[in-house]
Amino acid sequence: CGIVGILGKSAVAEKVVESLRRLEYRGYDSAGVATLEHGHLEVCRAEGKLKNLEHKLDKHPMGGHSGIGHTRWATHGKPSERNAHPHATKRVAVVHNGIIENFRELKAQLEAEGVAFKSDTDTEIVAQLVDRQLLAGKGPVAAVAAVLPRLKGAFALGFLFDGEADLMIAARRGSPLAIGYGDGEMFLGSDAIALGPFTDRISYLEEGDWAVLTREGVEIRDETGRIVERPIQKVPAGALLVDKGNHRHFMAKEIYEQPEVIAHTFSHYLDLAAETVSLPELPFDLAQIQHISITACGTALYAGAVAEYWLERFARVPVSTDIASEFRYRETPLTPGGLTIVISQSGETADTLASLRYAKECGQKVLAVVNVPTSTIAREADAVLPILAGPEIGVASTKAFTCQLATLACLSVAIGRAKGLLSQDDEHRLVRAFMEVPRLMTEALKLSPEIEVLSRTLAKAQDVLYLGRGTNFPLALEGALKLKEISYIHAEGYAGGELKHGPIALIDETMPVVVIAPHDRIFDKTVSNMEEVAARGGKIILVTDPKGADEAHVDAVQKLILPEMPATVCPMVYSIPVQLIAYHTAVIMGTDVDQPRNLAKSVTVE
Ligand code: G6P
Repeated sequence: CGIVGILGKSAVAEKVVESLRRLEYRGYDSAGVATLEHGHLEVCRAEGKLKNLEHKLDKHPMGGHSGIGHTRWATHGKPSERNAHPHATKRVAVVHNGIIENFRELKAQLEAEGVAFKSDTDTEIVAQLVDRQLLAGKGPVAAVAAVLPRLKGAFALGFLFDGEADLMIAARRGSPLAIGYGDGEMFLGSDAIALGPFTDRISYLEEGDWAVLTREGVEIRDETGRIVERPIQKVPAGALLVDKGNHRHFMAKEIYEQPEVIAHTFSHYLDLAAETVSLPELPFDLAQIQHISITACGTALYAGAVAEYWLERFARVPVSTDIASEFRYRETPLTPGGLTIVISQSGETADTLASLRYAKECGQKVLAVVNVPTSTIAREADAVLPILAGPEIGVASTKAFTCQLATLACLSVAIGRAKGLLSQDDEHRLVRAFMEVPRLMTEALKLSPEIEVLSRTLAKAQDVLYLGRGTNFPLALEGALKLKEISYIHAEGYAGGELKHGPIALIDETMPVVVIAPHDRIFDKTVSNMEEVAARGGKIILVTDPKGADEAHVDAVQKLILPEMPATVCPMVYSIPVQLIAYHTAVIMGTDVDQPRNLAKSVTVE
């Protein structure tokens, strides 16, 4: 979704819409504006494309000089006018990106206090919570300060208040926000692109920051409430269509925006209020699927390899995952009742497309999991599940991978449910776990400084080994691929149990081994693997959780510790340190991170 806010010198509604238009690439299914008309909050919202909102505004122009706006991207709660943002009470209007994880709990509390809700969204609870504080006599700043700590999740928020024509509040928790500086005007946007028409002076809120804007300027506080300075940067005139934010590389920007984009993806495929998976209608019956073949290339293939575990576990359906360039020529026998899932960021990869055509010839139903919904693969498939990651510029895929995982996780649960293999409780539990992913990713990103230090060792290595078991095995393959792609250091991914069957011969004190191992039922097996490595002088980087860190009594282990989390979401969250390891190592090596040698973003030749 896109967020915009303006404290202007003249009527702002049109400018808000202009700015929202620049955020259309974030997708939309409804849009809305709130302004202060003669000091009082008024909201105008419309379902569907932005032009519907424009038509409404043409008929009923708004004259307020302060306003906030939003384009909504198929979030939970039907795409309807009543679920469109801003969500407002008499006293406050709110726009929001991301997921408020504990909204059901908060909603229940508010309902018990007699609050009546007008929408199905998690956003409205923020408006209602702030409203209660205002009613109790707090000023807007104190009201927001009291509510922010009660919200769990990864999100960005913008607030406008009744009777406060020179005030806007913004908060960033996992979802980016930019502040734009004008001449006696101030702006807020989910990225610099949104603010392109108004100003070239931008500062970015950092994780946990919240900001109080007036026309005179902005006061930014960090998580602890301390007033902080965030540098103002000059954005070149006619800002790029996609910008790097305050990151050095697109890859870094794309790694950091994962909490935000994966929240979009989950919001699209989950009904957060019902705690169920809700896929769009598909032209085949999920309950009737007899077997599944997954085919893709590169990073997309590894997303498929993770999904194989989920599909077999939740849907008890046999799955085979195959490299597209092999699948298409192997003449795999594909019997009726089969589903072929093709996964591709670009939707144009030649081998993946050829595999799709082969599967169709063999009478398979073909489902495409793509990032580009207008791509050839999307057009030729029987059905499409877009991953909604937004444009990915860095050649090494990051956010597309985790959004592929999110989409495939929802699909796996949907098939399991259709086949009657998942109870309602199982589904609720899984959906609650999915809702936590954006926040867990935000936590994982905090490891970046530690990873930067570790990467200095990796940058000296000739070869690096990655180990993982279960769904973390494909993640080990992805980790090795990422490192190879951008740092040009040779790396291999192996299933932990295979260590003894070959790669152990390589281990000596010069060979770092990255072990991806949350504490799970086979963690002690992984500890044995680490002992085998340590006994031969190998240096271990263990990516784990607090329990795993406690139990890994092995010498020479450096630990990266993530919060404890349900096993199903591990591959998504553990992707973050895996990507950061490759990123920091490449930066130390001085390679061209966004455009590594010999690689292409989209490979349309064989
Ligand atoms: C290229 C890219 C990889 C990508 C692969 C598949 O090799 O460099 O990052 O994973 O193609 O691309 P696709 O667009 O089909 O996901």
